[in-house]
Amino acid sequence: MEISKCKSYRDLSNLVADVIEYILALPESKLVLPTGSTPTGLYKELVNRELDWSNVTTYNLDEYVDNTIQNQSYRYFMMENLFKHTNIDDDNIYFPGDTAVWPDMNYGVGVDLCLLGIGGNGHIAFNEPGSSFESETRMVDLTEETIKDNSRFFPTIDDVPTQAITMGLKPIMSSKRIIIMANGKHKKDILEQAMYGDITEDIPASILQTHTNMEAFYCD
Ligand code: F6R
Repeated sequence: MEISKCKSYRDLSNLVADVIEYILALPESKLVLPTGSTPTGLYKELVNRELDWSNVTTYNLDEYVDNTIQNQSYRYFMMENLFKHTNIDDDNIYFPGDTAVWPDMNYGVGVDLCLLGIGGNGHIAFNEPGSSFESETRMVDLTEETIKDNSRFFPTIDDVPTQAITMGLKPIMSSKRIIIMANGKHKKDILEQAMYGDITEDIPASILQTHTNMEAFYCD
């Protein structure tokens, strides 16, 4: 397993956009997508490419529970940064918690590509340190560190929701292909620990080492 070091954030975004372009060209495809600051350059690039999104179904990794700041919901983020600029069918956009049957153990299972960012503590989606490698999609409490990290997007730290629904590590690992992206020197150590260190539930992203079709992209 190697971390591919990209020359710039732009390069990283372009490389991952190439993979998504390939997936979108399949007759029918399924994608798992993240929010956060890491994929914004990628989403911008995808919008610029004016691709055909009519054959794809997307599943977002996570969504806040009881969020009172509507323009900070992950749905809002995705609509603004990506979906509303594409021809994706609204009925093909899913967020955890949306489905009629909940918890839905089939949510986002076995997709063609799962894209991930990594949290400062090694979380992927909202699977915080200590999450079981067998975890399913579920409601979770966010750690203080994650609440603090996310407070940059909210008026005050008290506005940051304390719970979310997240895809579990098990459905994430069921994806046919996984790409994890990290942007910035502050992510270097945790990405290296996750990719080269012990496989441990203390660093949820470390489970990705056991996936047979996984790539990690980094830029500083
Ligand atoms: C967001 C998500 C999170 C982020 C991670 C990194 O949907 O699943 O795990 O990917 O917190 O966030 P950024 O990209 O803001 O550094």
